[in-house]
Amino acid sequence: RIAGPSVLVLFGVTGDLARKKLLPAIYDLANRGMLPPGFGLVGFARRDWADQDFAAEAHQAVRENARTPFREDVWRQLSEGLRFVAGELHDDAAFDELARTVRQLDADRGTGGNYAFYLSLPPKLFPTVVKQLKRSNLAESEGAAWRRVVIEKPFGHDLQSARELNAVVDDVFPPHSVFRIDHYLGKETVQNIMALRFANTLFEPLWNRNYVDHVQITMAEDIGVGGRAGYYDGIGAARDVIQNHLLQLLALVAMEEPVTFSADAIRAEKEKVLSAVELPSDLESGTARGQYAPGWQGGEHVEGYLAEEGIPDDSATETYAAMKLGVGSRRWAGVPFYLRTGKRLGRRVTEVALVFQRAPHQVFNSTDVEDLGQNALVLRIQPDEGVTLRFGSKVPGAAMEVRDVTMDFAYGQSFTESSPEAYERLILDVLIGDPPLFPRQEEVELSWRILDPVEEFWAKQGQPEQYESGSWGPRSGHELLARDGRQWRRP
Ligand code: BG6
Repeated sequence: RIAGPSVLVLFGVTGDLARKKLLPAIYDLANRGMLPPGFGLVGFARRDWADQDFAAEAHQAVRENARTPFREDVWRQLSEGLRFVAGELHDDAAFDELARTVRQLDADRGTGGNYAFYLSLPPKLFPTVVKQLKRSNLAESEGAAWRRVVIEKPFGHDLQSARELNAVVDDVFPPHSVFRIDHYLGKETVQNIMALRFANTLFEPLWNRNYVDHVQITMAEDIGVGGRAGYYDGIGAARDVIQNHLLQLLALVAMEEPVTFSADAIRAEKEKVLSAVELPSDLESGTARGQYAPGWQGGEHVEGYLAEEGIPDDSATETYAAMKLGVGSRRWAGVPFYLRTGKRLGRRVTEVALVFQRAPHQVFNSTDVEDLGQNALVLRIQPDEGVTLRFGSKVPGAAMEVRDVTMDFAYGQSFTESSPEAYERLILDVLIGDPPLFPRQEEVELSWRILDPVEEFWAKQGQPEQYESGSWGPRSGHELLARDGRQWRRP
């Protein structure tokens, strides 16, 4: 898979995401031979840079954050196609200059008039940009050339704003040319959920309410809010992560097999699941939220959320969110899906665990058997990518004693191929025009429909419960499962 001739225009090129992820990913693609010689990259930002300044910044971002080794020849080839346009988003002249720049790239590099516009910007700026793209005749494709727009989450902050945002984009770009990034879908291990389920016979017969007791989806981070106070405060953990990454994981775990591996078939199955998601009838006992207090992490004392730079003293933003969801389908009726995410938790880990029912009858009459955990299949999304199967096994010796053991698949041991970074995969898919890994607007709206009532309920609850940094979250998070006689796994 190699991208065809094209120009990627990056708005928000001076931002954190561009420096840490996007520019390095573009270099990595070039290094892996997946970008054609006819490729151009145009940065657009307010900064008063010339092309060379942009190239110098991009060079540094690549040296610091690229996955693949630095190669002078690859960089030279890529950097010859770098251009920078300085300007304000509302400035017509700047967009006219942008139009001239991309057309000149077509002439200089043979980029074929194919343009992808990547909006790595806060959503409130989307309307201005898409209107400018339309006005400067950049949005509409000419002849066989294509035009695509890439938008980053958050896709709104509730159902209403998501719809408004979509209306703005939809007015200018037809649905098939809109690529919504949920970078979790670009992760190898997330794509592997479908391979594991649908390329094997082993798991699918057990993948239902007859065998699964419950499902736990965890995305824990050890970092705090860092320099992202401006974005994060007022948004919180549920909007930041559950609305997109965790509900997408739930959809992949709970969906039926798509008829084909086409974008439409996959998205249709995900939408069916999302529309079947049920909230707990009592949101008080069925959800939990918290805010990190000072504590210790990695041997270091860290500040609480309220002491972070840029966070108001009375902020009620949650940095931990958990909820118990149901999926109203024949396959999943009665099986709880527990979701949790948080910053400043015990360690950085994302995993999906299917916890199986206990054996209906135990012939081993020993206390050790009672201590036995439940069988579990754990999809380790990151950082230690792989799959673990946990089951009971006889302990060697004269007694009939059973103990939990695990069987592990680790990417690092089974594959010599290296995993591309999520953004690498997604940018390549945008340039190729391959949509399966991008959520449709329907999915976005269905996810907000799930979250909106929870946010409304929390908004009336005042301050979230404090939890110590480096712990596994607030008491209410543990009670969410304890009430059902269950507990969170310690990853
Ligand atoms: C982003 C969230 O979408 O995902 C961040 O906005 C979070 O708050 C990040 O830190 C985590 O991504 P990853 O790939 O490191 O798990």
